[in-house]
Amino acid sequence: MKRILITSALPYINGVKHLGNLVGSQLPADLYARFMRAKGHEVAFICATDEHGTPAELAAKEKNMSTADYCLEMWKIQKNLSDQFHLSFDFFGRSSSESNYKLTQDFAKALKNEGLIKTVEEKQLYSQEDGRFLPDRYVVGTCPECSYERARGDQCENCTRQLQGAELIEPKSVLSGSSKLELRKTNHLYLLQSKLQEKLKEWINEKDNWPILTTSIAKKWLTDGEGLQDRSITRDLEWGIPVKSNGITWEGMEDKVFYVWFDAPIAYISATADWTKTTKKDPNEWKTWWLNDHGAEDVYYVQFMAKDNIPFHTLSFPATLLGTKGQWKLVDYIKGFNWLTYEGGKFSTSMQRGLFMNDAIEIFPSDYWRWWLLSNAPESSDSDFTWKSFQSSINKDLADVLGNFVSRLIKFSKSKFGDHIPVGSGYSDLEKNTIVEILKYFKAYEESMAIMEIRKSANLLRKIWSLGNEYLQTSAPWTVIKQNPEEAGKIVRFGFNLLNFYSDISKPFIPVTCQKIKSCLKISYNENEWPENRELVFSNLKGGESFLVIENLFSKIDDDKIRELQIKFGGN
Ligand code: MF3
Ligand code: ZN
Repeated sequence: MKRILITSALPYINGVKHLGNLVGSQLPADLYARFMRAKGHEVAFICATDEHGTPAELAAKEKNMSTADYCLEMWKIQKNLSDQFHLSFDFFGRSSSESNYKLTQDFAKALKNEGLIKTVEEKQLYSQEDGRFLPDRYVVGTCPECSYERARGDQCENCTRQLQGAELIEPKSVLSGSSKLELRKTNHLYLLQSKLQEKLKEWINEKDNWPILTTSIAKKWLTDGEGLQDRSITRDLEWGIPVKSNGITWEGMEDKVFYVWFDAPIAYISATADWTKTTKKDPNEWKTWWLNDHGAEDVYYVQFMAKDNIPFHTLSFPATLLGTKGQWKLVDYIKGFNWLTYEGGKFSTSMQRGLFMNDAIEIFPSDYWRWWLLSNAPESSDSDFTWKSFQSSINKDLADVLGNFVSRLIKFSKSKFGDHIPVGSGYSDLEKNTIVEILKYFKAYEESMAIMEIRKSANLLRKIWSLGNEYLQTSAPWTVIKQNPEEAGKIVRFGFNLLNFYSDISKPFIPVTCQKIKSCLKISYNENEWPENRELVFSNLKGGESFLVIENLFSKIDDDKIRELQIKFGGN
């Protein structure tokens, strides 16, 4: 048994997340967490809302709410939606928690003690019309790297380059739209990342099993140009964690807060602490996950995120952790994702383009979304959500393959043998060969799940389901029963064992469906179980057990429905 720490990039608080956000971190992280728990490992699966910085302030302003009230309301909404999608976080916290204030301030102090923080006078964009500085997303303009026209003052979402507002070409205020901006002097704390360049390089170079997407982005920022830049970790904002230590404000930092990208990843740690403090016998258990000298050395830590987050997780956050004298756990594996597009274009929160979690869950059950998103995860390249593709994958994979297997089996059994699985013993060659075939794919499925190859895992699972259909087709109990009812009973019994097996192995993808199957079989559903015993898997059900009929596990989606949704949400 291993101890596995899993974090999903913390979703920004500013609004309901779209399906692109969901598939870029939280959902694949959930798949992995569910698989690892089922395999018997001890898992800590942690997430939280990322609440500071300009996005929160801007969104609250738009709603005429205080930023704190807005954040609380949005946290509840996001928590509720993650429950509806059955994201099995052990803890869903907040980066604005008291513990994150304290830990962030402690980190800054520890870095200062190591000589890694200095005060720098710099020039920041100041808007006369707004009477304030315009940090980060308060300013938009053209990216100097790739010429994308709506680059924000913190990062270009097109090419992932981290930016300073002043680097933008033709910058404009997001508040007033004014382009009457000037550069004014202000002091900020800088984290001297350049001093950590060699340590970081060494660490990254050890990671030879990381996906190319992850290491290439990290190495680009480590070695391109002047290498790792020192970066400002404070901002002229009201909302955020005040720059203090032990309650005392740092000189010259009275009106400033820490930069959101400084405190957000620290919330991985503080949320873990908030979890163990509220739910565990030993409130200090979080240390066994995060401090190498408390046992975290043996933890396997995996982070999930979309590619724009990779520089922060391969460079900035490790710099924060490595810079202190502390024994902090560094990530062991980063699973990064490309973009999901929507009907050929970008998903966009600011333009409300695409499909958002709250709308999606009202239209179809969570398992439908989970299946489409995971089996089409943007792993090695971007992938495109289209209503047509969604329809075809639900109708074919779920309804025609798995659903059809279940309904054929159960209807036949019920009509010929009544309320109980037919009794009997022994399998013949057909079953034995099917078992061999299925176990071959099952082994591959387990292997690809373990290394987080998501689309491949989905393909293998689909293949295993289809072998069930092929078995029913070949064994044809509806013909056999005319001559040999006992033989037909054996086929049905084997079918029920397959069904039970499917429920066990599919639950990381479609947990609600698997629970339904178990309740039809009147077997308790256990998330921490996995069919490890290959001998027993297909003879658990001996016959004689009663079962309930499942009407339709999945309903097909017709063309009219798809047209209606294309019109409602945009698409062709
Ligand atoms: N909120 C960021 C985003 O959605 C991710 C923050 S990850 C963290 O892109 F580590 F900083 F928390
Ligand atoms: Zn760019």
